[in-house]
Amino acid sequence: ARLDTRPKPLAGRRIIVTSGPTHEPIDPVRYIANRSSGKQGHAIAAALARLGADVRLVSGPVGIPDPAGIDTIHVESAREMRDAVEGLLPADAAVFVAAVADWRTANSADEKIKKVPGDGPPTLQMVENPDILATIGHHRNRPYLVVGFAAETQNIVANAETKLKKKGVDFIVANDVSAAGGAMGGDRNRVKIVSRTGVEAWPDMSKDEVAARLADVIAERLKTVAV
Ligand code: CTP
Ligand code: CA
Repeated sequence: ARLDTRPKPLAGRRIIVTSGPTHEPIDPVRYIANRSSGKQGHAIAAALARLGADVRLVSGPVGIPDPAGIDTIHVESAREMRDAVEGLLPADAAVFVAAVADWRTANSADEKIKKVPGDGPPTLQMVENPDILATIGHHRNRPYLVVGFAAETQNIVANAETKLKKKGVDFIVANDVSAAGGAMGGDRNRVKIVSRTGVEAWPDMSKDEVAARLADVIAERLKTVAV
């Protein structure tokens, strides 16, 4: 094996990353999901590990492999993801890249829902899922650094600023998911870093480049904190 001599500024740091979508069951064979591929979250986990961090990845169902050498917990639903993340505390930092389903069905059916002649389609009763980022942002065991993502189709910065305050987050990586060939599912991403001190617009980059640059920012922010 080649000897990796690059600096490891995140050595000794435990960092949690969430990635991918969540699946919320309707019945044993059906679920509600979204278009998240997990590419950005997995790339961030890998980039943090390259800087020496002890990364714990919590991934929803994705079609891509676990990043090599990274301890990955697989979950399906938002509530499973919340429990997995809380179970990994304490940590130095947590990065919430997952596109968590905002709602789940109020009670998923134990048996496959059947078409009944004359009954028409079923009505799905929805309830809100726990907000994992807000839970951890306000946690008594809150990591020193909490980073959120924001998927927006309009008013990107204003919406990200609202999320920043509401969820107890240090900074938000905001992206416009409405753009053609846009972030969700694609390989490129154009993001804005929204913090209490201002907004930094990054140029259009590959998701790997966004991940590497974000890992550098996280290493910089943790530099002055005792291990
Ligand atoms: N998030 C989370 N748990 C949820 C919903 C969102 O942890 N139940 C996290 C996401 O991982 C992301 C951030 O919160 O880091 C923002 O997600 P986003 O969907 O943009 O914001 P929401 O608060 O869900 O608001 P909305 O979808 O209405 O814009
Ligand atoms: Ca949402």
